[in-house]
Amino acid sequence: MGQPAYARKDRDWWRSAVIYQVYVRSFADGDGDGTGDLAGVRARLPYLAELGVDALWFSPWYLSPMKDGGYDVADYRAIDPVFGTLAEAEKLIAEARELGIRTIVDIVPNHVSDQHPWFRAALAAGPGSPERELFHFRPGRGAHGELPPTDWPSQFVGSGEPVWTRLADGDWYLHLFTPEQPDLNWAHPAVRQEHEDILRFWFERGVAGVRIDSAALLAKDPDLPDLSGHPEPHPFVDRDELHGIYRAWRRVADAYDGVFVGEVWLPDAERFARYLRPDELHTAFNFSFLSCPWDAARLRAAVDATLAQHAPVGAPATWVLCNHDVTRTVTRYGRADTGFDFATRAFGTPTDLALGTRRARAAALLSLALPGAVYLYQGEELGLPEAEIPVDRIQDPMYFRSHGVDPGRDGCRVPLPWAADMPYAGFGSQQEPWLPQPAHWASYAVDRQRNDPDSMLTLYRQAIAARPLFGVCPLTWLPTPEGVLAFTRAEGVTCIVNLAPTPAEFPRHSQLLLSSGLLDDEGRLPQDTAAWLRS
Ligand code: GLC
Repeated sequence: MGQPAYARKDRDWWRSAVIYQVYVRSFADGDGDGTGDLAGVRARLPYLAELGVDALWFSPWYLSPMKDGGYDVADYRAIDPVFGTLAEAEKLIAEARELGIRTIVDIVPNHVSDQHPWFRAALAAGPGSPERELFHFRPGRGAHGELPPTDWPSQFVGSGEPVWTRLADGDWYLHLFTPEQPDLNWAHPAVRQEHEDILRFWFERGVAGVRIDSAALLAKDPDLPDLSGHPEPHPFVDRDELHGIYRAWRRVADAYDGVFVGEVWLPDAERFARYLRPDELHTAFNFSFLSCPWDAARLRAAVDATLAQHAPVGAPATWVLCNHDVTRTVTRYGRADTGFDFATRAFGTPTDLALGTRRARAAALLSLALPGAVYLYQGEELGLPEAEIPVDRIQDPMYFRSHGVDPGRDGCRVPLPWAADMPYAGFGSQQEPWLPQPAHWASYAVDRQRNDPDSMLTLYRQAIAARPLFGVCPLTWLPTPEGVLAFTRAEGVTCIVNLAPTPAEFPRHSQLLLSSGLLDDEGRLPQDTAAWLRS
């Protein structure tokens, strides 16, 4: 039991892996300066090995002015000095691999930082220059060019901010996110060439995979039509040209056995599956599961739709409960609205954390029992809640771009608590960390949870260790009363989750392997509890 996919020397490791997302800035601070770094991660590799994860996905660690938490990259071949050096990254990749843990890096192809040499050269070269062709520079509309070239909305949902910025020389440039993140022109061969080289650069350094940021946004309609005319196809989302780009990437990756996971937020299942055809991306994040409310029928529908969508292209599903952009799971499940939608985030939403934690524990067993790969965002294994950051400490551009309406994403990015009795809960800082930790943070510390049989950490560790029992076979739903989900896998292991107020009877089984909470006096499964059974 508990053999990681890597130890099985399995080329298909990514089809069933547990992948842990490291947001380096907030994972562990090795040099004490208040920001997490590679030294901090290296020191904590034994923790990750003990947790049992197969791979680490690192949010961007490259040179960056950090206008969007590192998703504004100034140099893909350099590590930001606040995190460390390239030599350290190479050591980290090798050390992780020795522990049986693979590394996935995050590439942000839609845009670069405005400090990237290409953009600086484009600014300096002026209107009409070849340097500007690497981006989307255009004259404005209106008698004096005073109006932006299109009516496209910002991809920071709800911000209402323009996606074009005008320069003193009269040109406007496109940025679907912040003005510090100019969009690249993917119709330009140099942009494609550069990214294929960047992929090779990281695969040569031993990374096993690449996460592709904003993967469905790269290609733009060169005619730049307004959205208000409802042009088909969409001028910048999910355009057909993308598939040629990813086929070329796949040829690069195949030479290294590298794998891709795309950040593809698309409502249309058939369009989504196109990215997962055998010669394109290996996997993509499953945002329908992440956004799904805590409701048995809807969760089952989300699972079925996901599996049906992936089956024709032969790609494994991914199961994601949280990441660095969304509300932490225990908080989301403790609210009246248990789904996730960027547009509905607000300060001061009432939350029942005990309820949310119970549900998050059950959801952990549910997602780890499903066929496919599972993504685990740092701190989820500790059951961390979303923090409400004092407004004068908020750093996320989403807050500022929404003029203070959206709380931003810092609440899920707070530095991790490692040791309850240490300054800053053992994050490692000798000064106040870059984001403040709430007062109760120490109670979630790793050292508090490590030997507690009832902690979230123990549950995750046990579940990850037992997960290989579920194997790789498809699932079969078992008949259940309303509000109860139960499925079995051909290997003879069953997962049951009770979302109904009435306690649920177990199906026939020989052994209770794990449960997310106590059973009732009659050995039944209470509401918001899950269990794994051997048939
Ligand atoms: C992705 C990232 C997010 C970032 C955005 C722009 O959605 O996950 O954190 O702000 O892309 O790069």
